[in-house]
Amino acid sequence: MTFELKPFRIGPIEIDLPLVLAALAGYSDQPFRMLCRDMGAPFCATEMLLDKSLLLNQKLRRRLVQLCDGDHPLAGQLIGGEPHEMAAAAVQLSEMGLDVIDLNFACPVRKALSRHRGGYLMKEPARAIAITQAVLAAVDRPVTLKLRKSFDEADRDHAALWQIAEGAFDAGAAAICIHARSVEAKYSGKADWDLLARVKQRFADRVIIGSGDVRSAQAAIDMLAATGVDAATAARGALGNPWIFRQVRDLAAGRPPHEPSLAEQHETLRRHFDHAVTVYGPKRGPRIMRKFGIRYARTHPHPKAVRMAFVAVKTPDQWHTVLDRHYEQ
Ligand SMILES: Cc1cc2nc3c(=O)[nH]c(=O)nc-3n(C[C@H](O)[C@H](O)[C@H](O)COP(=O)(O)O)c2cc1C
Repeated sequence: MTFELKPFRIGPIEIDLPLVLAALAGYSDQPFRMLCRDMGAPFCATEMLLDKSLLLNQKLRRRLVQLCDGDHPLAGQLIGGEPHEMAAAAVQLSEMGLDVIDLNFACPVRKALSRHRGGYLMKEPARAIAITQAVLAAVDRPVTLKLRKSFDEADRDHAALWQIAEGAFDAGAAAICIHARSVEAKYSGKADWDLLARVKQRFADRVIIGSGDVRSAQAAIDMLAATGVDAATAARGALGNPWIFRQVRDLAAGRPPHEPSLAEQHETLRRHFDHAVTVYGPKRGPRIMRKFGIRYARTHPHPKAVRMAFVAVKTPDQWHTVLDRHYEQ
């Protein structure tokens, strides 16, 4: 069986594969994005960036947003609650060279909600639209939104979703990505793909990106086929498996999905680690890579032992020892 993977657009940017790397706090940093691009990811998003932090000073901005030449097209994702601050932070991201500004109205973390940011905006559609309008007026590049299906799990009519989507598209938003869970559900329970299909039907000529339960390349194809969304996001499905972008092309072409050998995993994990140490230095790099190692362990034939080994890593030497011990054929 083959499946047609259609390109899609975010404003003027043509994206040749309908599977993109999601915004992932703590994970979609420059080293991981570049690795995913090597595997075929056509478009990536930064981790969410607090608007107020971006406005503090240039040094902090450069620390928070690490860019490099090949890392395009790239969406910079903003989280905040005030239209003027979100607009000012969007200007900073534009000046730094981000290609798309993505607005996070989806984050379920308690701190964000208590400060009326992220998923809280699913309770305040008028404010979400005001933020979108302010950002659109401030920048000269595509603006996209990340929404949840609703705030409350019990909400069955998704009035806020319809209202924000309508208002944002009318204002000129280039695309909307929907994580098909409620804010209350956080990351658990099944994502509501039926709702994604309804959103795509209602906004047939707009760009809709689906998020939720794309845990494998097959699941990405299943979402595209079942819902008709223009693209899907690889989120937890890319953690530990950046090969997902290559695998989706394999499956679509009717080939068995590429399964990386241990030697290939070794080489990939080494490359990812070396890049992280270049970006973060030999002290911070290994700490940051520990959590990636734990995710990579799931593709290993002995996941438990490998996970435990990565948990203990503190130095570059220890990382390479884990690779030599567990990833030799
Ligand atoms: C560790 C982690 C961090 C995340 N960080 C962000 C983020 O910064 N911004 C965002 O919009 N979504 C974030 N998400 C949500 C994902 O982008 C995605 O919408 C969600 O995980 C659903 O997809 P999945 O079920 O395929 O994982 C995060 C998810 C995880 C698991």
